[in-house]
Amino acid sequence: MRTSTTAAMTTEEIMRVALDQSGMRDIPADSGVHVRGDGIRRIYATIDCDVADLLLARELRCDAVLTHHPEGTASLHGWRLIARQVEQMVECGVPVDRAEAAIQRRMHMVELNSHVRNYGRVAQAAQLLKLSFLNVHLPCDVISRRLITEKMAPFQQPDSHATVADIIAALQEFPEQKLAATEPKVLLGAPDRLAGRVAVAMAGYTNGGLEVLKAYFEAGVGCVLMMHFPEADLREAREQKLAGNLIITGHMASDSIGINVYLDELERRGLEVIRAGGIIVPR
Ligand SMILES: [Fe+2]
Ligand SMILES: [Fe+2]
Repeated sequence: MRTSTTAAMTTEEIMRVALDQSGMRDIPADSGVHVRGDGIRRIYATIDCDVADLLLARELRCDAVLTHHPEGTASLHGWRLIARQVEQMVECGVPVDRAEAAIQRRMHMVELNSHVRNYGRVAQAAQLLKLSFLNVHLPCDVISRRLITEKMAPFQQPDSHATVADIIAALQEFPEQKLAATEPKVLLGAPDRLAGRVAVAMAGYTNGGLEVLKAYFEAGVGCVLMMHFPEADLREAREQKLAGNLIITGHMASDSIGINVYLDELERRGLEVIRAGGIIVPR
């Protein structure tokens, strides 16, 4: 029920909405309340957050900042969620031992990169500014993946003769995709090729890189959708002439799909939400 007056929420309640929408009981390792607070009525929502965003949020008289990408300790521990990709691969017919082996290289690399992070910087600034601060990553990505998977359902029939171009056209039906400055891009394969079975390889902290891509193709998946893909892995994939299609769906466009569902719900509960920080707003 939409309320005309602004309701006040706590940081925990704001987090709980995302968990409920994505079917999670506990806060995942890549998300967290970094500065807790009560009586929140007006929030600044962003995909990425630095100290400048906090100052902008204060300038805009917000009580809290809600960012998508991991911050604080969530940015140190989130890499563990790459393990979720095993489940996704198994759903697509990858043998479990093959799937577990496929994530090792990427998981190791992402963990090593997390050691570089100045993880507490933004959270500390939020504390000094007396701004409530939380980041909600996996729950929003689960929502994006769910909606994109639903969109792909018609193409999963064995008699589907959809091409890679048809998959891209379906993705473009999302208002966020239509409005984004990016377009889904074919990194491997070609638009006129048959798509075959489609895997939506998202909501696993980050892309799985070359080995995960190979595992999907070996299991008979014809077209893999990822939000983004590393350059070095792409080079290797091309050298190895992998026989499959890889579409990157656009990072901000794809993240915005799930984020908007979440923010719409917060608004429905009476919060005032300022969408900033690169969120693609379909209005
Ligand atoms: Fe995301
Ligand atoms: Fe993202």
